[in-house]
Amino acid sequence: MIPSDAQQRWQTSRAPLGDRSAYKKVWELQSHDLDVAALAVAGHTDEATLELTARGTIDMLKSTVGVEPEDVILEIGCGIGRVGVPLSKECLHWFGADISSGMLRHAATRLRERPNTTLVELSTVGLQEFPLDSFDLVYCTIVFMHLLEWDRYRYCEEAFRVLRPGGRCYVDNFTVDTETGWKIFLESYSYPIDRRPAHISMSSSREELRTYLTRAGFTEVRVHDLANGLIAATGRKPE
Ligand SMILES: C[S@@+](CC[C@H](N)C(=O)[O-])C[C@H]1O[C@@H](n2cnc3c(N)ncnc32)[C@H](O)[C@@H]1O
Repeated sequence: MIPSDAQQRWQTSRAPLGDRSAYKKVWELQSHDLDVAALAVAGHTDEATLELTARGTIDMLKSTVGVEPEDVILEIGCGIGRVGVPLSKECLHWFGADISSGMLRHAATRLRERPNTTLVELSTVGLQEFPLDSFDLVYCTIVFMHLLEWDRYRYCEEAFRVLRPGGRCYVDNFTVDTETGWKIFLESYSYPIDRRPAHISMSSSREELRTYLTRAGFTEVRVHDLANGLIAATGRKPE
C-alpha cells in the first residue's frame, strides 16, 4: 500500500524533460524523503516489497554474471540500497555509487548494519571516483532507462576501466518488444508532451546494449531476455 501523500509529494518533485541531463538536480528532487525516494527508485515504499524485488534482481545477477562470496561489487546508480542490503550478505564488499546525495543518505540509513558496504557520491556521469581494476563485478539496473544514450555508453566504458581483468559487467533496460516493456512505454507515452518529466523512462534495443559493451572492449558479450520483461547485456573484461 503506497501512502497517498507520498504519491503526491513524488508527483510534485519532478523536473521537466529539458533537465534530463541534469541528473543530480533531477534525482535530488526525488529523494527528499524516504517514501518519495523509494517510489522513484522502485515504485513502492514498504520494506517487504523492496526486499522481495531485490531478491529478484539478485537472482537475475546470479543467472547472468554470477555472484561469488569473494566478489568486490559495484552498483552504478544504487539509489536507496534496495539491492545492496541483501546482496552485501552474499559478497566480500559491496560499493554503491549514485549521482544523488539524497538517495545515498537513505541508502546509508538502510545499510547501517552492513559493515562491508561503502557509498560514493558521483560528481558527474562516469566513475572518476574509482581507480582502474577495482572490482570483480559492476552492475547497473533500472538506471539506463533514465539516461541519455551517450551517458549509458559512458558508464559501460567506465565499468570496463574499473573492472579487474576477468571481471564481469551487467547492464539492463526495458525494450519495447516485450509485454512488460510495452507497458512501460505506454506509461511514458501517456504524459502530455509539455509535462514529460526529466526522468521519463526510455527503452534500449538488444543491439544497442550489445554494441555498448562490445565497443567498450568487453568479450563474451551476451544479451539476455529476463523473466521480468527486461533485457540485460553482460560481458567480461579480457584477462
Ligand atoms: C530507478 S532508480 C534505481 C536504483 C537502484 N539501481 C535499484 O535498482 O533500486 C535510478 C537511480 O539512478 C540514479 N541516477 C540517475 N542518474 C544517474 C547518473 N547519471 N549517474 C548515476 N546515478 C544516476 C538515481 O539517483 C537513482 O538512485
